[in-house]
Order: sequence, then structure tokens, then C-alpha cells
Amino acid sequence: MAGWHVRDFTPDDLEAVVRLDAESGTTDAPAVFGLSDVVAALHALHPCVVAVADGHLVGAAVGRVEGDRAWVLRICLHPAWRNLGMGTELLSALEHRMQGAGVRTLATVLPPDETGATALRNAGFRPREGLTYFEKAQAVTAQDVVLLASLGALVPPSGLWRRLAGMSAEKRLIERRLVLPLTHPELAAQHGVEPPQAVVLFGPPGTGKSTFAQAVAGRLGWPFMELFPSRLALEGGLAGGLSRRFGEVEQLDHVLVFIDEVEEVAGLRSEADPAFVGVVNELLKSIVRFRDRDGRLLVCATNNVAALDPAFLRHGRFDYVLPIGPPDHEARCALWSSYLARAGAEVDVAALADASDGFTPADIAQAARTVAQATFELTMDTGRRARPTTEDYLATTRRTRPTVTDEMAVEFADHTVRFGRT
Ligand SMILES: Nc1ncnc2c1ncn2[C@@H]1O[C@H](COP(=O)(O)OP(=O)(O)OP(=O)(O)O)[C@@H](O)[C@H]1O
Ligand SMILES: [Mg+2]
Repeated sequence: MAGWHVRDFTPDDLEAVVRLDAESGTTDAPAVFGLSDVVAALHALHPCVVAVADGHLVGAAVGRVEGDRAWVLRICLHPAWRNLGMGTELLSALEHRMQGAGVRTLATVLPPDETGATALRNAGFRPREGLTYFEKAQAVTAQDVVLLASLGALVPPSGLWRRLAGMSAEKRLIERRLVLPLTHPELAAQHGVEPPQAVVLFGPPGTGKSTFAQAVAGRLGWPFMELFPSRLALEGGLAGGLSRRFGEVEQLDHVLVFIDEVEEVAGLRSEADPAFVGVVNELLKSIVRFRDRDGRLLVCATNNVAALDPAFLRHGRFDYVLPIGPPDHEARCALWSSYLARAGAEVDVAALADASDGFTPADIAQAARTVAQATFELTMDTGRRARPTTEDYLATTRRTRPTVTDEMAVEFADHTVRFGRT
């Protein structure tokens, strides 16, 4: 005479589950798995069962499978249906579905006496005494994760910044102007500093502009989303695509939006056709809208800052226009050293830095990769562990054409004076 029946969750049940969750709690303690975790699991079709009585949803058990372990994220019971064995039946049904997924351990974390504690005991769960639950809140919620996946955005690893070798002047500038105000907004506000919302990075190809943008997102723990103008153009027009994408990111609490080769979108209007003017205007409008809210940063990168429409660079749109130049001698030493350590090479770093004037981080990475591969092949051929020499590196360096020619270096210095806003 149960009076209810248990079945699988369907997407139509979502609203009822959320409502039931609000009625179900028996303690004031906040749940370890927040409602956003529950909703994300339901969206992603993790196992979930519901109990229905008289056409109403009166119970739910929500799971999430992670490899061979699964979590019971929630046991919800309508207050009128407590202590009748419904929780136990829901758990058994959930367990049954988990077994099919190869789950070996089923676990949950509950405040003492929260809804479901009795059902868990009855269903054979045993409490583990003497454990302390630790947590640290991150900027991205589980609900965001679903949204991020659909937008093609990801939170880059936080270690990316640390792995950026050399470039200490650029790192210092980006750290102070961008990262610190965004990670210490209260302190910044006390000084009348408004955290930056949009910046341009300019410099020769391969100096690390894209990498810096990703590393900043990693430092902030914010999702990184790149907009590809060429793809947007194919998806029914660049202007419309830009406005749509900027609209989508409004759903995110935090985001770093990155546009590479922005001169393709925001080039000089005078030289452009009317369709192009529409695109520049759309981007300018999007930037204004984007700047309306905190917790977001637009990073635009270009190799050719002089080709940007002056309206684009005007004050009020971008907080900073930061030069990312070719690495100096010291930075080249640091870049080389990071690859030499990995290759187990003991060579004259200063000589390599001397020989690689005009090399970008990308050039140095390429030369180091070439030597590493050749040494590896030598070891395979001879059966003896080969070690690269200084001469091996110098020979490869001589064969590599530096990206930054003398003229480019002069032009970059000139652009830094004319356009840089640091
Ligand atoms: N400081 C650094 N330390 C180590 N590797 C780096 C560093 N900066 C860049 N790199 C590497 O160099 C390559 C080029 O960097 P990146 O693509 O960020 O340059 P870019 O300035 O965006 O180039 P482009 O103007 O062509 O888009 C990448 O493989 C990146 O991992
Ligand atoms: Mg790039």
C-alpha cells in the first residue's frame, strides 16, 4: 500500500524537483551539494529517480556518477511523506541504476539529521565517523560548467601563469594592472581604482599574447572564451554573431573573453566597406554592454595596433593598451633555461640567448623542440643516452629565422610610444 510509485526522472520533472528541494530540508545547515550541483547533474542526465503520488512529485533521489564512485547529491521528501519508507525505496532504485554504470561505491555527505539520514541507514549506508569535510569555493559553479561547455569555454589551469618563463616586465605589468585589482576589488575600491574590464595586447607574432590571456583567466579562476571572428562570419554574419556571443556570455558571473587578431574586426573604418563599418560599430556597442557588469574582462590581441580604428582605442573602451614585446636577453635566458632543464641539457645559456636575438618565445620553443627531437632520435639509434650540446642548440638557432626583424623591433618601439597605454 505504498501509495506512490518510483520512476526515472525526466526533464519535465526539473521544476518540481527544485520546488520539492525547497520544502524538503529538515535542518538549516547549508547542503554540501548546492542546488546548482543538483541541477547540473539533472541536466547532464546523471541517474535520478522520483516518487510520484496522485500525479504529484513527492520524492526524489539525485545521483552523480564519477568513475566507479557515485554521489547521492540529494534525497528530497515531501513533508507529508516522511517516515513511510519512501526514502529507502528511492535510494534502492537509485543504487540499482548506478550498478548498471559500474559504480562500486556510493557516498554522500549530510548535515546531522538532514532529510535522508534515516533512509540512508535503512538502505545499508554506514556513516564514517571522525572525518572532517573541507571545502574551498571556486569562482565557477557547477551550473556554470554546463553553460560553459555549451559556449565552448574552459577555465585554464592555474599553473599556466607560473609556467610562463621570462617576460618579467610584461608579467609584472599584467599582474599589477589586471590581476591584482580583479582579485582584490575591495582594496582597489578603497583606493578609487576601478578594476579593468577591457584591454588590448599588442606586439609581434609569437610573443605570448594568447598565452598571457589564458594565463590571466587561469590566475583569476575565470572561464576563458575565445571569439573567432572567421567562424562567427560563417554563422550568419559577423555583426550578428558578435552581438549574439556577447549576449550569451552575459549569463556567466565571471568570464574572460578573448578576441585574437582583432584588427580583422576593428580595422580602420575609412578603408572599409559599409558592411565592415557595421561590424566595428557592433563590436563597439558590445564592449559598452560588456563593461556594464563586474567580473568580466575582454582581452583583444593584435600584431598590428596601427591598423586599429582610432574609435576602437579611444579612452573609455579599453582601460589599457599593453605592449607585449619580444623577449630581451634576460627573458631569452629564462625561456631557454625552461626547455634545457626539461631536456636534461647542461649548456651555455647566455650563448644561446646571445644567438637568439629577435626570437620570440614561439621561436625558442620551436628551436628547443627540434634539438630535443634530434637528441631523442640519436638515443634511439645508438642505444646510448645522448645529451644535446651548446653547439647543437647554436646550430639549430642559426637555421631558425627570427620572427622579429630589426625593422619590426623599431616599429614595435614606435607603436609602444604612440599607442601604448600602461
Ligand atoms: N613566456 C613564455 N614561456 C614559455 N612559452 C611561451 C611563452 N610565451 C609564449 N610561449 C609559447 O610560444 C607560443 C606562441 O605564443 P602565443 O600563441 O601566446 O603568441 P601570440 O603572441 O599570441 O602569437 P600570435 O600573435 O601569432 O597570435 C606558444 O606555444 C606558447 O606556449
Ligand atoms: Mg595569438
